[in-house]
Amino acid sequence: MNIFITGIAGFLGSNLGHYLNSKGYKIFGNDNFIGGYPDNLSSDFTFYKTDCCDFNEMKKIMKNIDVVIHCAATAYEGFSVFSPSFVTKNIYEASVSTFSASIANNVKKIIFCSSMARYGEQKFPFSEDMQTLPQDPYGIAKVASEQTLVNLCSVHATDWTILVPHNIVGPRQKYDDPFRNVLSIFLNRMMLGKPAIIYGDGSQKRCFSYVDDCISCIEKTITEKITSKEIINIGPDEEFISIKELADKCSNITGNNEKHIFFKDRPQEVKFATCSADKARKLINYKTEYTLDESIKLTYDYIKNRGPKNFEYKFDIEIDNEITPQTWKKKII
Ligand SMILES: NC(=O)c1ccc[n+]([C@@H]2O[C@H](COP(=O)([O-])OP(=O)(O)OC[C@H]3O[C@@H](n4cnc5c(N)ncnc54)[C@H](O)[C@@H]3O)[C@@H](O)[C@H]2O)c1
Repeated sequence: MNIFITGIAGFLGSNLGHYLNSKGYKIFGNDNFIGGYPDNLSSDFTFYKTDCCDFNEMKKIMKNIDVVIHCAATAYEGFSVFSPSFVTKNIYEASVSTFSASIANNVKKIIFCSSMARYGEQKFPFSEDMQTLPQDPYGIAKVASEQTLVNLCSVHATDWTILVPHNIVGPRQKYDDPFRNVLSIFLNRMMLGKPAIIYGDGSQKRCFSYVDDCISCIEKTITEKITSKEIINIGPDEEFISIKELADKCSNITGNNEKHIFFKDRPQEVKFATCSADKARKLINYKTEYTLDESIKLTYDYIKNRGPKNFEYKFDIEIDNEITPQTWKKKII
């Protein structure tokens, strides 16, 4: 079966590509290298350096594809209230272009990686039947992409599944990006001998999924009919942990004794965000195989093997005012 993965040089896309390739799928994919690492790619992938927003190119490279897994995104939730145009383009425009090119090529199924940003601030754990209540341009663009996907697939009789991952961690994740990936940022900073930087008092809570627990589940959505036209949260609802506790765990594993530094909280950050995994357990037999401590250790090992790196500020701040985090304005991370 031919699978096309967008954003295949990124964290989730590349891990999926390697895994599905080992299971006998033929892997095709694209990336524009806004994020990700080039060495996340494998010579077993047919790779195109193409921007998802380029519809004509996407249409050309997506010939003879059975299933598309759309992972490409600028998944910058906190940053999206300061650079909304950049984030929205690479989420909404990139998604619509990818969905249109897929449907124009008669793919059988489109699997879209959405985000728990779709739920916003409401009663947790979030379940799939809840209303969408995004709090920021990133979440709004994800919800709009979901709606366009369902609309186009219904008109053109294409199958779809919407996956809702949350805070995935593990090897191949970018750890020198100051705008996202809290665990990798903590570990990289601490390995550079610097303290953790925490927004607010660190009492905001999240669940973290090890990437292998997600990708085995995503494979099931390629073949299991039961996932057809369903929205499914992917990830654990166990070990709901505060960001301060996560930073403490990183101090322990890295042996960094520096005191954490606390900065003003970021606008629109959801305080308690965790998703119910009940539907995933029922439909695709989801099971958390990796504990949080194991996930942190494997992410730590990855960064240690490659070596910690200085952070790279690749993106412009579109709205720079008094509420723009100092950490980004002054490049403190
Ligand atoms: N990692 C998480 O914790 C998490 C949680 C929830 C949802 N997601 C979703 O999963 C997907 C993958 O996330 P990730 O963590 O692997 O991100 P990532 O940044 O590691 O990978 C995304 C890749 O997409 C590429 N890309 C961005 N815009 C593009 C465009 N216009 N054209 C072509 N390529 C483009 C980037 O270069 C990058 O390599 C995203 O859709 C994200 O919103 C991730």
